[in-house]
Amino acid sequence: MAVGILGLGTYVPERILSNADFEQFLDTSDEWIVSRTGIRRRHIAAEQEFTSQLAFSSVEDLIRRHGRQILEGVGMVIVATNTPDALFPSTASLVQDHFGLEAGGFDLLAACPGWIYGLSIAQGLVASGQIKRALVIGAEALSKITDYQDRSTAVLFGDGAGAAVVGEVAPGSGFLASVLGTDGSGQIHLHRSAIADHLPAGAKMGPHLYMNGREVFKFAVRVMNTATLQVLERAGLTPADISLFVPHQANLRIIEAARERLGLPLERVVVTLDEYGNNSTASIPLALQRALDQGRLHPGDRVLLVSFGAGLTWAASVLAWGGA
Ligand code: UT7
Repeated sequence: MAVGILGLGTYVPERILSNADFEQFLDTSDEWIVSRTGIRRRHIAAEQEFTSQLAFSSVEDLIRRHGRQILEGVGMVIVATNTPDALFPSTASLVQDHFGLEAGGFDLLAACPGWIYGLSIAQGLVASGQIKRALVIGAEALSKITDYQDRSTAVLFGDGAGAAVVGEVAPGSGFLASVLGTDGSGQIHLHRSAIADHLPAGAKMGPHLYMNGREVFKFAVRVMNTATLQVLERAGLTPADISLFVPHQANLRIIEAARERLGLPLERVVVTLDEYGNNSTASIPLALQRALDQGRLHPGDRVLLVSFGAGLTWAASVLAWGGA
């Protein structure tokens, strides 16, 4: 059975923080942020707006674009997030209730690549016949765990959400191969404490995320390349076969390094971080939606999704674009 993406929906909060806004309260500059990251602005959730609401809004957009019937047969809700409203119940349960779905649901924590992990799990559930369709959401209210006094992370992150319905698609379309990886030896480089004081030596406790940007940068440049090549090999493809490259939106220099190493022309790469910053699990669905809205995705196109994040984790997936 061919399994793929039947429809997408996205949401970003109204409030925008520009680089100039950061200049007002941090020792930083628009010039530094743009030249070191490519980010110009990011959308930030309202004080009382949390990940569940961002997820709901992305599903409402999905319904607006594709009709309520796209949710028929959804037997599982997967919410990939680093910022769930609560440790439990899961954000997925809140989504199930909000839309009155007859489905199982769970939150998935695999850091930024979580949405690709979710797509892959959904593909397996559909292909094995356990469910007909899955709703896979990447949703983040990263502003709630960002330390706005730490210039090395504050300028990077934005809030948003993206939702996809995964189900049976026309033969020849859908997921061709996936690669999911993690290497916990890099746990110290990007973390946020929760319940345990069982964290590696040198880890920072507290409500905010902590990142050693330089180490994550080096890891990212390496893994974007290796994961892409590995997933292409599994699918029997080469970089020249990629019609659209949709990378995690963390830093323009990381995307550029991957593009150059893979020998991809600029027009095949989707970049949204100028507008959204880094939305973690929501980055890839937001970028995919942007490409669709710009008419850059056509049936049969080979689309490559690749991401990296805390863990350290990585994931890549290649699919032939096309619906039912
Ligand atoms: O989703 C996955 C999560 N994370 C990432 O993908 C992040 C990966 N890493 C990065 O994108 C980059 O490492 C950063 C954008 C975080 C940092 O860029 P960098 O070129 O690696 O800078 P750096 O950490 O080496 O810092 C260079 C200098 C430092 O000053 P000194 O020590 O040389 O005086 C920093 O203090 O830049 C300074 N700096 C800033 N200056 C102005 C760091 N942040 C800022 C800032 N404004 N916002």
